[in-house]
Amino acid sequence: MNITKKHVVIVALTGVVAVLALPIINLIQGQRVPEEFVAIKCGSAEMTAAKEIIGNKCMLCHMQDPVLPFYAVLPVVGQQIKRDVADGVDRVNFISFYKNGGDDQALMAKLEHAVRVNNMPPKKFLAIHWDTALNSKEKAAILRSAAKVRAEKYATNLAATEFMNDAVQPLPATWHEKLSPAKIALGKRLFNDKRLSDDDTISCASCHGMDKGGTDQAQVSTGVRDQLGPINSPTVFNAAYNIMQFWDGRAKDLAEQANGPPLDPLEMASNWEQIIGKLKKDAELTAIYVDVYGSAEWTDPNIRDAIAEFEKTLLTPDSDLDKYLKGDATAISGDAAEGYALFKSHSCGTCHTGPAMGGQSFERPIDPVAYYAFRNKKIVEKDFGRFNATKQEQDRFKMKVPLLRNIALTAPYMHDGFTSDLAEVVTIMHDHFVTPSNRERLSAADIDKIVAMLNANTGTLPL
Ligand code: HEC
Ligand code: HEC
Ligand code: HEC
Repeated sequence: MNITKKHVVIVALTGVVAVLALPIINLIQGQRVPEEFVAIKCGSAEMTAAKEIIGNKCMLCHMQDPVLPFYAVLPVVGQQIKRDVADGVDRVNFISFYKNGGDDQALMAKLEHAVRVNNMPPKKFLAIHWDTALNSKEKAAILRSAAKVRAEKYATNLAATEFMNDAVQPLPATWHEKLSPAKIALGKRLFNDKRLSDDDTISCASCHGMDKGGTDQAQVSTGVRDQLGPINSPTVFNAAYNIMQFWDGRAKDLAEQANGPPLDPLEMASNWEQIIGKLKKDAELTAIYVDVYGSAEWTDPNIRDAIAEFEKTLLTPDSDLDKYLKGDATAISGDAAEGYALFKSHSCGTCHTGPAMGGQSFERPIDPVAYYAFRNKKIVEKDFGRFNATKQEQDRFKMKVPLLRNIALTAPYMHDGFTSDLAEVVTIMHDHFVTPSNRERLSAADIDKIVAMLNANTGTLPL
């Protein structure tokens, strides 16, 4: 949807009378801040201030079923405002954002970006509601609130001052919670153990190789008996940062995720009884297990717990990009540095956000049908993404945003692994994923610079 053109049409059609009358009526009527929104309590004075500003200026298009302005009954202008409300609330619902603590990392990045580039409310809406524009004090207040949340909840305290408030943060070398070395050692053994598969041919590492960027570097994975799976294998490197696991988020964390592959008929095709039957015959491994869990009784929650603990160590810090973000201006080329600036200005960091550059939200192409038609791809069930896990219509076509760390090692790309060409992916991101109000021209030279930045993103790999 192109807001700019449509609003031009609306303003033209409503004519001089409306253009003059609406602002005056609007001035008398003012905006109504919904009760439900007012009632939400925030954790800090900064967030309370930001929420109040948003309540006064943004809620018309960013909540379910708002009280529409009187002109919503008019044919053309009414249709447009209804479409804006539908599109706006689909991307950000500020009632649920603040109810959930106002600290969702990806939504926060989107809010900061909109405020920085000053594209909300949409320009043509401002023509009739000039009083909803954000002034510089209000912008500063919203950014201050976001900066406070980042500092308290997400900052790795590694970024140089100039990058401190970026959506992308340097990747820490260690996981932030204390891990058990004994569990890690056991988990590493199990991760590499082929007895987790029916015919002892496949381990987790077969599809998530330490020498392959934590993936299998194949379009789709191959399970036992050479069976092809339906989807591309995401990396296990830094996967601990994902808010949920799998492209569709059907597992809430790493331990739950590890229940998937062993039982999946197309992957390891086994079951826990069979696996435990094999492992308990291994006296040496069972001795290690007893040391960790205090009992010789093998259980699948413990197996999964140990694997998850090991996976939390699969972090890849100290890429050249990280060195740059930490303040070493010469760590990446001039092109890559410009690529990073372009990555921010083109809003890539609003989805590929946080230390792992993704994994914080589920997102869909702006127009999924047009996107898959452009790719000449027949839509299959796996393309429904998050919908397959929640059965909620609003989740159809949404994928968990992939991590961009070590991207040079993890081709082919996208959930269907359809290309290994990073420049092609960046073009698709710009044309089909960046939201219309953030979309600006991206030249071929700019794309090369973003690719240079992505290629400077390989960290120290786990062994
Ligand atoms: C007239 C309706 C309208 C008003 C008022 C409005 N927005 Fe929006 N907003 C939209 C629409 C439509 C979209 C989705 C389309 C787009 O992003 O191009 C959107 C998207 C957004 C996004 C998501 C951008 C992204 O990267 O996905 C943010 C954040 C946002 N608005 C913030 C605000 C803030 C802050 C205000 C108040 C200062 C505001 N909006 C007021 C219509 C509105
Ligand atoms: C046959 C290949 C194969 C095997 C074996 C395999 N995986 Fe995977 N793994 C995949 C694929 C494919 C996906 C994506 C599936 C999806 O999202 O629907 C995946 C997803 C994951 C994810 C989620 C990453 C993310 O970004 O969401 C983790 C973590 C993971 N696997 C760990 C493991 C562990 C631990 C094991 C062993 C218990 C294992 N895998 C065995 C292919 C495999
Ligand atoms: C609205 C959220 C959003 C924005 C904005 C966005 N991306 Fe993405 N990106 C995604 C999603 C979702 C996928 C996975 C899509 C799929 O698999 O079908 C993805 C995939 C990618 C991949 C492939 C990763 C892999 O391992 O498969 C790269 C590279 C990438 N994006 C770079 C960028 C760049 C560069 C920009 C800015 C021009 C950008 N993205 C903007 C959501 C976004």
